[in-house]
Order: sequence, then structure tokens, then C-alpha cells
Amino acid sequence: MTARIAVLVSGDGSNLQAILDACRDSVLRAQVVGVASNRAGVRALDRASAAGVETVVVEPRAGEPRAEYDARLRDAVAAWSPDVVVLAGFMRILTRIFLDAFAMRVVNLHPALPGELPGTQAIERAHAEAAAGRRTRSGVMVHLVPDEGVDDGPVLAVREVTMRPDETLADFAARMHAAEHVLLIEALAAFIDRAFAATSTLSERNQS
Ligand code: GRF
Repeated sequence: MTARIAVLVSGDGSNLQAILDACRDSVLRAQVVGVASNRAGVRALDRASAAGVETVVVEPRAGEPRAEYDARLRDAVAAWSPDVVVLAGFMRILTRIFLDAFAMRVVNLHPALPGELPGTQAIERAHAEAAAGRRTRSGVMVHLVPDEGVDDGPVLAVREVTMRPDETLADFAARMHAAEHVLLIEALAAFIDRAFAATSTLSERNQS
């Protein structure tokens, strides 16, 4: 069995690239069936196209209510019939209108430890806190997205990143991104394995 992964992006897509590479190398028993972006012209879309993956851009329209945007995005993603939806640097909050269509199958990546630094610029904020002597460690996490809570939900995997005194923001960011690329694949591999185990248990039961 091969899991069908849809990936939502907004920018560079280095985490999307980690997923594409892991699928190509059979590290993940999965295929990326589509990539959706809320922004046109981002590098993530080029990465998807280079891997032969279908893409769609769903940009918010002027004055569009959040519910309508989420319904349009939901319909575009549902067309790929994904088993898992990965938010890999997707910079919008999703409401239940989107999330309920993929219940317990939406996975988010956030560059901070559980319960810390929700929202944007988490890497920059952690670095500033360390420079001010208020932080010695940060990390990255992968979690399920059950509802509108920002960077919050059942945790699938965590990796701590120790902060180094006098490290530049660029160097710290590079170490955080490297940690993300590893953790995201580990978390997805375990998530997909569990989903397959549950499915085969179910089909075995149905056959008996
Ligand atoms: C990552 O740090 C992710 O955790 C955050 O946005 C960044 C996206 O990076 N939410 P990329 O687009 O995958 O390179």
C-alpha cells in the first residue's frame, strides 16, 4: 500500500522537498498526489512541478470570508483523495470547514517545542530570547491539527534543539530547518505505518 499525501505550502518548500525525496527513495511508503499553495510564484510550486506532482494555487480573494476560502481549498485538496494532508510551511490558519473533511489526518510542522512560541517567526523569537538570556533550548514538533488552535494539537513527534551562545540567526535557523526535515519524515513514516496497521486489522476483521 502507498499512502496518498497532499502538501500545503506557502513559500520555499524545503520541507516539501524532504517529503518528495523520502517518497522517491522509498523511505516513506507514500506518494505526493498534490501540492496546494495559497501564494502564486513560490519556490515550493517549482519543486512540486520538478517532481511531476500536480499543483494548485488557491489565493484568497479580496474580502473573501475565511469560510469560503477554506471551502475552496478543501474542495481542491479533496479532489486528490489524500490519506494525509501535511501543512509544510502553510501560513494560514485553517478552520473546521477544511479540517473536518480530513479529520485526524491533517499534520502540521512547527519550529518550536509543544506549547511554546505559537504563530509566525518562532525561530526568530527563540533566537531573540536566547540572545536576551531567557532561553537555552528550542526545538521542532509535528502534530495533528484537530481544530483552529494555532500550532497546537496531539503531538506526533518532537526534537529538541539546544541553543548555542553567540550563534547567528542564520546558523540557528539552518539547524532548526535541518531538524525539521528529519523529524517530519520520521513522524510521517510512523503515522503512515500506524494507519496501515489499523487498516489491515480492520480488513482482517471484516474477512473473518
Ligand atoms: C518551516 O520552518 C515551518 O516549520 C514553518 O515555516 C517554514 C517553512 O519552510 N511553519 P519551508 O517552506 O518548508 O522551506
